[in-house]
Formats: sequence, C-alpha cells, structure tokens
Amino acid sequence: MLEAGWTGTSTVPSRGLYPHQWSWDSAFIAIGLRHVSPLRAQTELETLLAAQWADGRIPHIVFNPSVPLDAYFPSPDFWRSSTAGRAAGAPRTVQTSGIVQPPVHALAAWLVHLADPGLSRARGFLTRLYPRLAAWHRYLLHRRDLGGGGLVSVVHPWEQGMDNSPCWDRPLSRVTPAPARSFRRADLDHGSPEDRPTDLDYGRYVRLASDYRDRGYADGPGDFAVEDPAFNALLIASEYALARIARELGAAASARQDRAERLTTALVERLWEPSAGMFLCRDVRAGELIPERGVSGLVPLLLPSLPRDLAATLVRTLCGPHFGLGGTTRLVPSYDLLGEAFDPHRYWRGPAWFNTSWLLERGLRLHGERGRADALRRGILHTAGASDFAEYVDPYTAQACGATGFGWTAALTLDLLHDRPAGDRNGVTAIKGGHRG
Ligand code: SER
Repeated sequence: MLEAGWTGTSTVPSRGLYPHQWSWDSAFIAIGLRHVSPLRAQTELETLLAAQWADGRIPHIVFNPSVPLDAYFPSPDFWRSSTAGRAAGAPRTVQTSGIVQPPVHALAAWLVHLADPGLSRARGFLTRLYPRLAAWHRYLLHRRDLGGGGLVSVVHPWEQGMDNSPCWDRPLSRVTPAPARSFRRADLDHGSPEDRPTDLDYGRYVRLASDYRDRGYADGPGDFAVEDPAFNALLIASEYALARIARELGAAASARQDRAERLTTALVERLWEPSAGMFLCRDVRAGELIPERGVSGLVPLLLPSLPRDLAATLVRTLCGPHFGLGGTTRLVPSYDLLGEAFDPHRYWRGPAWFNTSWLLERGLRLHGERGRADALRRGILHTAGASDFAEYVDPYTAQACGATGFGWTAALTLDLLHDRPAGDRNGVTAIKGGHRG
C-alpha cells in the first residue's frame, strides 16, 4: 500500500479517502519508509517542506493538482491559499490548506537520517531541512502561544489531528455551524457515516476554517483555541530531535535542549490533572481544563524529562479501566472507555489508531516498561495485519473502521518490525540528547 500510495514525490494516506499529501501522515510514513527506501523517506519530507509558508507554518494538506477538485473536501478552492494566504507567505505555485498538524517532522527527519547517514550527508538532507524545521518550530512557539503560558494552541480540531474527539465538544459548541447546504462532504463517498464525524461537527469545522481563511490566516483571537497535550508533547520530542540535528551539523544544540525541558515544565504546569491521572486539554478561551480523557493526554509519556511519578501515573492510567491496555484492549483507544461520549467506531471518539499506539509503545519503552511495550508492539503488529492495515479499529474487537490499506498503519508496522525490541539505537533513545545513534 505504500507502493500504491506513492505519487513519485510523496505518499497519499489513502487513495480514496485522502488523495493528497497530509502533514503528520507524511512524517509517520517517512518513519516507516526509511527502512525500505531512505531516499523515498527523505523525498517524502522534502516535498512537504517545499510547501512551507514564509511565516514558517507547514500546511496540513499539500494538494495534488492532478486530483479532481470534488475528490476531497475542503478542496483548494475552499482554502485559496495562494490568495487568502498571501500575507502569511503561502507558496504561489502549490495549493495547500492554511491550518497545520502536529509537529512530528523533526523527529521523523532525525530518524530518517539515522537509517542511512551516508546518503543523508551526501544529499545534504539535514542541512537543507534544518532551517525549515527551525522556522516551523518558531512559528508555533511565537505565533501560536495564544494562552500566554508558553504552550502552543491549535485553532481547529483538524490541526490536532483527532478531529472529532469528545475533548473538543465543549469549545466547539461555541462555534456556529456553517449551513449544511453550503458545502458537500466527500468523505462519505468512501467511508461509512457511522465511522465518520457527524454533519453537525463538519458544519463547525467548515465555519472555523473559513473564518480563519477570511482573516488571511492571521493568528490571534478566534472562536477556538486549545492547548493539547499530544500536540505539545510532539513539539517537545521534535525539539529534542532538532537538538540532535543541530549537533550533527556542528551547530549549537544546548538552547534547544533547554527549551525542550522548559516546555516539558510548562506542559506539566498547565495541563497535568492529578485527579484524572493524566494530562487534559486546556480550553484557552474559557480559561479551564476540559474534563474529558482523550488518548492525547497519555502521549507525553514520550518525553524523556517527564517526572518519574507522572510517568508511573500515566502508565497506571493507560492500563487501568479508562483505556484498558493489557486488559480489555490490545491497542490504546482514542477516548475514555468509560466516558459518556465513548463510541467504539466513530473516528476519534473511541476507536484505536495505530499512530497513537506506536507513540505510546515508544513511551513505555523509554520509561522502562519493557514487558508492556513488547505486548503493545505485538498487539499493533497482529491487529495491523488482521485488519488489512485499517485506518482505525474497534478497541475491543479490532474490527476494521474507516479506510483499509492506510499509509501510516503500514509504515509504522514496518518500523516496529525493523526497530524493536532488540535494540533502541535508532528508536526510543534517539530523541534524547547526548546519545549518538
Ligand atoms: N482529518 C480530516 C479529514 O478527515 C482533515 O485533515 O479530512
């Protein structure tokens, strides 16, 4: 499916449902591709980064001009990046969306480099990517600190990537939906309506995106601003990776290392909720934590400088009744099994996704939970194959949901097959400072 999804310069997540290049999909896909073709993995990231805006943002979709406009909604004529995004520095020659996705890219670039350092150096891969990745992080840290506490806010649920997570229900309820007749969803041509977000949610997604577009994609006060634990944890993991990249290039790395540690402190101060035993999302407009347990609140387990007691608490929560890992579930559900809004099939309201389980497998291994990491790894490998590399699965039965032959499911399966558990040299420890891979 990675072969079938390859366009010559990048990989589509799914030929039917997602026929363009997606930002965080490409980062995960590159992490898997590096094992079979380091050159293609480098190209995947280079293609994405070539569509970066002058203000530093990496758009969440880079559109393929040969795909018909009605194959995916919202299409380039909705985003109008080259005109509406002109002041923000959108590229002229390629059409993109105007929102972003989680910053997994520096982590991916470092792992891709490690797969074939000779090829990477010969092609100047990191030399060319480093300034772009640094600008990307600068954009997030300077333009998106909407809460003023040092963390990054997302301004649309699609930015965080877990589109219809119940965590967004409260902040989204303040958004007036765009009328249903004003747009036509293309996703329902490819997926079952029970597996996808509702029309009401789509109306709100469309309103938020068109308001942002109509402000020229300028960042500032808007209806929706949320500090998300996974988005920020991935930024921190990528900041550690950027420190490694800087060191490889002979540049100063200590400021990045320090920043990653400061960001970890801010994450704990602003998003840790002891009574939940995990991190929660912060609704910046309302000035409060959102009382819903989403898988994003476990993802900071990925961080090397997380205080020990917090890491131990996260592992207990992951394996307790709310997420059931090792008990009722073999992969990590996207949302609280005991939550009122839990739905085992509907997109991010309960099903298990492979990228979040892959991240938590790394987190468990990093914090010394080898047995649990091995079991999760086996669960991912078995379920990926048995579900025909589904986009997501019912967390109890592993029944396939959404698309099959999904790009990051295949790529992360490849990564687990190559990288663990014999040694972590190219894996978990590669995001920490001071260790040469
Ligand atoms: N995940 C969104 C979609 O379903 C947007 O990236 O299209």
